[in-house]
Amino acid sequence: MSLDTLDRQLEDLPPLPAVVVQAIQVFNDPEFEFERLEAVVGKDQSLVSQVLKIANSPFYGLTGKVSSLKDAFIILGSNTLRNLILGVSIMRQLGDAEGAVLEQGRLWMHAYGAAMIARRIALEIPHVDEEAAFVAGLLHDIGKAFMNICFTDDVRRIVEHAELNDCLYLEAERALVTIDHAFVGERLAGRWHLSPDIVAAIGQHHDTANPSNEPLADIVHVADSLCRALGFGHSGDDGVTAIDPAVLDRLGIDIATLEQVMMDAYPQLCGARDFLQPA
Ligand SMILES: [Fe+2]
Ligand SMILES: [Fe+2]
Repeated sequence: MSLDTLDRQLEDLPPLPAVVVQAIQVFNDPEFEFERLEAVVGKDQSLVSQVLKIANSPFYGLTGKVSSLKDAFIILGSNTLRNLILGVSIMRQLGDAEGAVLEQGRLWMHAYGAAMIARRIALEIPHVDEEAAFVAGLLHDIGKAFMNICFTDDVRRIVEHAELNDCLYLEAERALVTIDHAFVGERLAGRWHLSPDIVAAIGQHHDTANPSNEPLADIVHVADSLCRALGFGHSGDDGVTAIDPAVLDRLGIDIATLEQVMMDAYPQLCGARDFLQPA
C-alpha cells in the first residue's frame, strides 16, 4: 500500500451520511434546539434505533429506560448523544465486513472496550473531556477497520506474519508495510472532518515516544493495552501491548490507579459483552 493508493481508496469511500453532518451542525449551533435535531435524525430511523440500543446498554446503567431520542437527550445529555450518533454512523460506514480478513464485529468490540476504559481513565485526569476520550477510544483503530475492508491482501500478510513470528499486529504491520493503521486512521478521520483532538489521538495512539502527544492519545494508548489485558474483543492479535511509563508520567497516573480502572471496567465489559456480540 502506498500513500497514493491509500488516498484513492479514501476518495472512493462514501462521505459521512448527510443526516450525521446535519446533526453535528445542529449540535454545534449556539442556538441549539432539540426539535431541529429530532427533525434531522428522525429521518434515519435505523440510526435512531441503533443509538437507543447503545443508550440502553449496561454501560450507561439505564437498561430499558431510554425509549426515544428525547429520553436519550434528557438522560444522557447533548455531548453523549452527539458522540453516540457520530460513533454509530462511523461504525455503520465501516461495518460492511464483506471479504474482511479480521472479524469486524470483534474489532468493534475491542473499540468499545477501549472506549469505555478511556472514558474511565479520563475521570482521573483534570481538564480532559470524558466524552471525547470515549470517542477517541471508540475510533482509535478505524484505520485497521478500514484496511481490513479495503487492503485485505496487506492485512492478510500482516496477520500471517504476526502469527508466524508470535508478535503483535502492530509490529508485523511496521515490518511489512510503510503506512500503519494509526496513520491511515488519522487520514480517514480528517477526511470525515472529525474534531482535531480526536484526529490527533487516532494518529498518535502508538506514537508514545512523542513528548507532545495529546492527552487523548496517551489515554487511548493506555486504554488499548488494558482492553487487551482484559481480553475484550480482538484487534488482530492476542498480545498485550506494554504501557510506556512516559505516558503514565505525562498523564500523572500510577499503577494503583490503573488497577482500580481495571477493577471498575471489568464488570462493565462483562455486562456489555453479550449486548455487543454481533447478531
Ligand atoms: Fe491501534
Ligand atoms: Fe487498539
